[in-house]
Amino acid sequence: MKETVVSGIRSTGKLHLGNYYGALSNFVKMQEEYNCFFFIADLHSLTTHPTPGDLSRTVRDVVVEYLAAGIDPEKSTIYVQSDVPEVAELYLYMNMNAYLGELERATAFKDKVRANPDNVNAGLLTYPVLMACDILIHHGTKVPVGKDQEQHLEMTRTFGNRFNRLYDVDYFKEAFAFSYSDKLVKIPGLDGNGKMGKSNGDASCIYLSDTPEVIRKKVMRAVSDSGPTEMNQKKPEVIQNLFDLMKIVSTDDTLEHFENLYNNCSIRYGDLKKQLAEDMIIATEPVRSQIQALSNDDEYLKKVVKLGAEKAAASAHKTIREVREIIGIRKLY
Ligand code: TYM
Repeated sequence: MKETVVSGIRSTGKLHLGNYYGALSNFVKMQEEYNCFFFIADLHSLTTHPTPGDLSRTVRDVVVEYLAAGIDPEKSTIYVQSDVPEVAELYLYMNMNAYLGELERATAFKDKVRANPDNVNAGLLTYPVLMACDILIHHGTKVPVGKDQEQHLEMTRTFGNRFNRLYDVDYFKEAFAFSYSDKLVKIPGLDGNGKMGKSNGDASCIYLSDTPEVIRKKVMRAVSDSGPTEMNQKKPEVIQNLFDLMKIVSTDDTLEHFENLYNNCSIRYGDLKKQLAEDMIIATEPVRSQIQALSNDDEYLKKVVKLGAEKAAASAHKTIREVREIIGIRKLY
């Protein structure tokens, strides 16, 4: 039997290159080789209190972008997290075995507390429990994520194993972060920030739906420095970021060309940025044109999410029935 892949993206906005290369790289191959669930984590995004209008619009945007990126709803299951209430039920059960100390120690939680000290809600604290349930509900074993999510996968294994021990069963399998390359990726932001991410602002992100003009503008404004002064000098982080982005979207020859210019101190960052922008435009073109083609096709989108909800519910329903039985939640009538 094929192993199960579970992949989720929060519906906090449009997909950026970090999501695309971090969570979705090689998914075409993935959907051939595995039983894949791709879902939109709309419940997770409630931690930041989106308006009802924004929430429903961004869920729709992510469905469009999943499809535009090439996920085939016949081969894979594309669904919206809130369409499968069993996930929320499992979250309730698993919260009983998740402890304050371990939740408070999660790096992503600590980062969020630092960034938004006025919004430290319980949903944020138990975010990793809900994420674990997304995976455990389908008995996922492979989870394509960026480097930032590695710790959440470790917590998923902890929660699953703890459940097994508590009830003396061998029920939940261990899930691991998955990538076809040898390590998990971290796509840097354009603002000199370590990571491309919506919470670092629009200037840090290249969205899959950005037009070529917007891409050029954002890349030309990317943070750089005054240039190398010594031959073969180590690159400062902001410059390394630009080279790392180039590594992803440009050819090896282009990368080598600019590496050489950097190493002999004749690089002009304007030229590098121009090239980087053009290569980003080429890399995202197929997705961009599909986004435009799909975004007005309401009938098709409805069909996709309905089919996805049915497929995901079948798998989730079986798990919840079994979990209730294991826990001892049995009907008296
Ligand atoms: P989100 O929306 O923050 O990120 C979605 C996915 O994109 C990856 N990612 C990146 N990868 C590399 N470099 C970046 N700069 C970058 N930015 C984002 C993330 O690692 C992630 O894979 N908690 C998840 C959503 C989720 C989930 C799940 C994922 C909820 N339940 C179950 C997998 C399985 C998240 O980070 O969303």
